[in-house]
Amino acid sequence: MTDQPAPGNPEGDEPIKQRKNGLYPTVSDELAENMRSGWADTELRDLRPIPQAQETARRRAELSARFPGERLVIPAGNLRTRSNDTEYSFRASTEYAYLTGDQTQDGVLVLEPAGDGHEATLHLLPRSNRENGEFWLDGMGELWVGRRHSLAEAERLYGMPCRDVRELAAALAGATGPVRVVRGHDAGVEAALTDKVTAERDEELRIFISEQRLVKDAFEIGELQKAVDSTVRGFEDVVKVLDKAEATSERYIEGTFFLRARVEGNDIGYGSICAAGPHATTLHWVRNDGPVRSGELLLLDAGVETHTLYTADVTRTLPVNGRYTELQRKIYDAVYEAQEAGIAAVKPGAAFRDFHDAAQRVLAERLVEWGLLEGPVERVVELGLQRRWTLHGTGHMLGMDVHDCAVARTEAYVDGVLEPGMVLTVEPGLYFQADDLTVPEEYRGIGVRIEDDILVTEDGNRNLSAALPRTSAAVEAWMADLKGGGLKS
Ligand code: GLY
Ligand code: MN
Ligand code: MN
Repeated sequence: MTDQPAPGNPEGDEPIKQRKNGLYPTVSDELAENMRSGWADTELRDLRPIPQAQETARRRAELSARFPGERLVIPAGNLRTRSNDTEYSFRASTEYAYLTGDQTQDGVLVLEPAGDGHEATLHLLPRSNRENGEFWLDGMGELWVGRRHSLAEAERLYGMPCRDVRELAAALAGATGPVRVVRGHDAGVEAALTDKVTAERDEELRIFISEQRLVKDAFEIGELQKAVDSTVRGFEDVVKVLDKAEATSERYIEGTFFLRARVEGNDIGYGSICAAGPHATTLHWVRNDGPVRSGELLLLDAGVETHTLYTADVTRTLPVNGRYTELQRKIYDAVYEAQEAGIAAVKPGAAFRDFHDAAQRVLAERLVEWGLLEGPVERVVELGLQRRWTLHGTGHMLGMDVHDCAVARTEAYVDGVLEPGMVLTVEPGLYFQADDLTVPEEYRGIGVRIEDDILVTEDGNRNLSAALPRTSAAVEAWMADLKGGGLKS
């Protein structure tokens, strides 16, 4: 198989005579002949199925049962241009990775109606054609971009028949019968289906997969724990280099965390928020180009994404010099107290909104107590007046997407009930903008968020990120320990 063109390869065996924009002139027949042979057989014949093969098969069976008799098309997506002929790094669509375990660019999962259910087929780019020179003369040839799995190897790994994806568009265009596609990932696949699908029916497919992912199986929980554990190490890395960040910028923190994510995982699951000083009050501060100053806070919101595409989402707000000021501590402790109340409300059978309400109430109480809002607290909460400084919801589902299950129906998610196996963040915060004239000057420019990743268990919850300290005293002790006991004044 290794040295053979894929069966029915649409590229054909017509020799490629010149690499596009190449420095070298056309390829002589002698060189072409030379490049065709002399290559070892590298086929991997003893590959074992991926560890989550049983889970992906079960997920496909659930999908099949929901859409009987319909062809279902789930693309991985394509590379996106960054500039000219360079691309952003590829990240397979969550739907495709969830249902296959594969992450190959341009891959497409098709569930074809068969009997009472469906037959799943994975459509992938096969190994490069060596006969026609594709492997070394084409930009996507393996000699340039690296070895791919042969279709036979992919079958062993993913437990499904695999076919050449270059034949798929024509097959889809010619097929009859009801069909749905997950939109937004592969314009070529969508174009082949354009007169066969409707936006509404396609959205039903996307929603179903989003809701499938609300409750995590044991494999997924294990992966999320790995993501969190790696993230904890990334936070430790950052604390150890705060001196270097002070000498440079927030970029040093971003780069430090990114190193951990790339070495231990696939990537970061979202742009790291490395927000020092007043930047902490900007909720999605990802420019990360500001100064890091002793005496100020650093709000670090970052998560490692595992090789299987599960991400952590953790925030700690740290005193850059290792010691909170009195006011920073007061605000931090209020956020901690709110988070404690929120986490306590995470349990099976509770409404999803409960933990948000619990945390918001604590923050409203403190804001009244500090004289920033006029009581009673009931009125503040009813009118949502605390939101000038609490700004965002107290948490969200977490999984392969940082804001996971985002298209689940309101009744299944925001207005739904917590179940064992759900994983969500609890992340209250208080943010006093630098230009907020309604608070005393000393509050201005202080932002605090504490965010943990919480698994709903049969009898309550488990904090997956409990290895990172949360109380102000524990944060200070942890920082002192990591910095070798040397606190700066
Ligand atoms: N990192 C984005 C969030 O916490 O939701
Ligand atoms: Mn976050
Ligand atoms: Mn979050």
